[in-house]
Amino acid sequence: METDRLILRPWRESDAESLYKYASDPDIGSIAGWPSHTDVDNSLEIIRTVFAAPEVYALVLKDTNEPIGSCGIMFSDTLHSAEMKQCEAEIGYWIGKPYWGRGLVPEAVKALLLRCFNDLKLAVVWCGHYDGNHKSKRVCEKSGFKYHHTNPDVISPLGDRRTEHFYRMTKDDFDAIEQKLQ
Ligand SMILES: CC(C)(COP(=O)(O)OP(=O)(O)OC[C@H]1O[C@@H](n2cnc3c(N)ncnc32)[C@H](O)[C@@H]1OP(=O)(O)O)[C@@H](O)C(=O)NCCC(=O)NCCS
Repeated sequence: METDRLILRPWRESDAESLYKYASDPDIGSIAGWPSHTDVDNSLEIIRTVFAAPEVYALVLKDTNEPIGSCGIMFSDTLHSAEMKQCEAEIGYWIGKPYWGRGLVPEAVKALLLRCFNDLKLAVVWCGHYDGNHKSKRVCEKSGFKYHHTNPDVISPLGDRRTEHFYRMTKDDFDAIEQKLQ
């Protein structure tokens, strides 16, 4: 998939160094609920396992051809957070700190939503963030998701208890957004 500034493509083993550079930052993983990468081998292992799942994409900056973040579509039978039915999915994302605030993730989310509704023919797409993650909340809002519910007691993949807010977009919501843009 391609956007104005990004290419979304599957992760490659040769991305391990770039992945480590950004995913070793404790300000990225902890707020999203996963452990910061400890070394390049750890990043390689993540590429071979977690990132090998279907619909997980490296966010590659066209200007530099470097992978600078990750995003993906998660289903009820893969690693996910929202309670979902068969025709639903959840999207997740992060981007390296030097690239925060440029609207790059909302740009990627738009491409993921097109993939979810137009190609995968899903009925509902979920997005969630832990309490206090204002930056991710803004991505949900700016992407057109509607707040749905809060789960006050979820165990994060790091093992701690957190409050998680969930947003969702239906196919009708998506069509209305698309129509407004035309
Ligand atoms: C959340 C995240 C993906 C946003 O990506 P992004 O491409 O920077 O998104 P945007 O440029 O649209 O910025 C979103 C909000 O972040 C905030 N923000 C932007 N740059 C920032 C910076 N340098 N420092 C702190 N906050 C910043 C702003 O509130 C912005 O909202 P606004 O456009 O209304 O001002 C990114 O900050 C990130 O990877 N954070 C760590 C991991 C994470 O939280 N992942 C999501 C888990 S649910």
